[in-house]
Amino acid sequence: MCSLWRGSLLTLTSSLNRRVFQCCRQFGRSYNIASCMPEAVAFQGVSDHSGLYKFSVNESDRFWGAVARQRLSWISPFHTVQNCDFSQGKIKWFEGGKLNVSVNCLDRHVHTCPERVALIWERDEPGTEVKITYRQLLELTCRLGNLLKRQGVRRGDCVTIYMPPCPLAVASMLACARIGAAHNVVFAGFSSEALADRIRDAQSSTVITVNQGVRGGKVVDLKRTVDQAVQNCPSVQQVLVAMRTENTVAMTDRDVPLEEEMMKEDVVCEPVAMDSEDVLFLLYTSGSTGKPKGLVHTQAGYLLYTSLTHRYVFNYHDGDVFGCVADIGWITGHSYIVYGALCNGGTTVLFESTPVYPNPGRYWEMVERLEINQFYGAPTAIRLLLKYGDEWVQNYNRSSLKTLGSVGEPINTEAWEWYHRVVGDGRCPVVDTWWQTETGGICIAPRPADPEAEIVPGMAMRPFYGIKPALLDTEVVTGDALCISQAWPGMARTIHNHHQRFTETYFQPYPGFFFTGDGAHRSKEGYYQIVGRLDDVINVSGHRLGTAELEDVVVCTIKSHQIKCIYIALRCSAQQLREMVSRSIAKYACPDFIQVVRCLPKTRSGKIMRRVLRKVVERNTDELGDLSTLDDPDSVHEVIRGHRRLRGDGKQQ
Ligand code: WTA
Repeated sequence: MCSLWRGSLLTLTSSLNRRVFQCCRQFGRSYNIASCMPEAVAFQGVSDHSGLYKFSVNESDRFWGAVARQRLSWISPFHTVQNCDFSQGKIKWFEGGKLNVSVNCLDRHVHTCPERVALIWERDEPGTEVKITYRQLLELTCRLGNLLKRQGVRRGDCVTIYMPPCPLAVASMLACARIGAAHNVVFAGFSSEALADRIRDAQSSTVITVNQGVRGGKVVDLKRTVDQAVQNCPSVQQVLVAMRTENTVAMTDRDVPLEEEMMKEDVVCEPVAMDSEDVLFLLYTSGSTGKPKGLVHTQAGYLLYTSLTHRYVFNYHDGDVFGCVADIGWITGHSYIVYGALCNGGTTVLFESTPVYPNPGRYWEMVERLEINQFYGAPTAIRLLLKYGDEWVQNYNRSSLKTLGSVGEPINTEAWEWYHRVVGDGRCPVVDTWWQTETGGICIAPRPADPEAEIVPGMAMRPFYGIKPALLDTEVVTGDALCISQAWPGMARTIHNHHQRFTETYFQPYPGFFFTGDGAHRSKEGYYQIVGRLDDVINVSGHRLGTAELEDVVVCTIKSHQIKCIYIALRCSAQQLREMVSRSIAKYACPDFIQVVRCLPKTRSGKIMRRVLRKVVERNTDELGDLSTLDDPDSVHEVIRGHRRLRGDGKQQ
């Protein structure tokens, strides 16, 4: 009864919202904030976005308490909203509360709308998408949960998932949540060494994978990578293998055919009542020392924060199709493809392919075919597609699009404008969302805001509810240290097995604050602009410059498609760098300043490994750290060779 009531309330609210927004357009700024966020009814004196934001940071307990009670289904209620102390790195939310994340993401929607599509699996081959309803996803999850239990997985264990985006990967994550196990999803592009490191650190006894992956028309032997990895992982007792292709792969005694065995299981699996602060998952991310950190996220706070940001940053409404093209192996996939979207009863796309397969129109052909309403992607891909020209976009009908999102790195103005003008036909808000694996969900983005509030190109702009940024002094000339001065429910709780590293990295640099590692500016209007990582700053003739600035130079000046990337040998001043931007790189490309090499060291997710570049420039090539996540390990040698040639000191290194 309760969930039925909640469902109809949500529908009512969303239709109200549409009317309210229309109303605002006609009558200016006065509007009823409570109809946008129903909880706001109880917040005295709150009548607009800025009032609601202030309430959320000043009355943090009341804000988060009300939102948590309204938006999550609890098995037992929490007694304390938050219990946090940054000096010890102690973060606890909703203590005393019990809930099950998979029930919040599945069962309650199955009660109200069982036939609603939960997942659209956009397979590599265009036009072969598979739709999975909430009822079907619950069934898959329960069968898998029962299978995991049969295989000996218990509450508190950690299961490693090495799979491309597919319904069984989502069901595996939710099955873990259902039976109280944690998951550790490893991006299926990582090497066997990177996978083995993560399995060992997480002490997993169970790995779930697929026989082969398919991406950009190529078949990848994922099971073989797992076989190599587990040779060096004594904790692993079994590997569950799903069949993505029809090709058989060698199976050992340790291997369990997943589909076959799960079909033997019951479709009912009792959800475990989890404490708010039990672990939901670990997710590894590279740190500046090169040893990956297993960031820990827990149940209630994470789920609440991802669902709230999904609803309000993207203006997601019931019935919308949410198209995030990230991989589930990254935090973006966890928070917005899986947990945030499903907690909101959304329809969410699982994209298995690449932006250019079979051609550079892939995203937009998909937008047309699946009628995607919110599209969420990375600046790297946008910049790549921009170079192929507008026709690839204009060939397809994009009238379904309502909001465009960007994440992962600063989006330069040219790419932002193109995204807005060409992809969104100038009518969709573009939200440049700043956040990190550590923050769990979006912390700074142009939306939510008052209706019609301005959006400045290439700026993340406004802190989300409950987020109170602070800019603290650094020695870096390009920006201040972006910190957050109070806890929010989505933040990571610790680094798996390394709580000290957690406090040292995030809480000791600026006592009393969470330090993000990023630099930022605040404009006179109070908008935030992120300028890039501070821990990867590069020294240029005594000036320490943030990397975003350098990358922008590169982005502004690359003209030729052949030149994939540029290595900047940093022997120029800030002034000279500015000049390089204003002139064409070709005219200014003197080997003293710039050396073109085949490729920058990039991770498989497309991020430039700046710490590697910095070590090369500092001539600390013995301390490059973990290179196992590099897309092309040879690129490092190329950079080292290029740097030696440039410095004319090859023999010394
Ligand atoms: C960078 C990805 C500028 C930033 C969700 C951050 C961004 C790191 C933006 C986290 C943005 C992410 N503008 N920089 N909108 N979004 N970053 O953990 O340096 O993979 O610290 O999480 O990406 O990367 P991660």
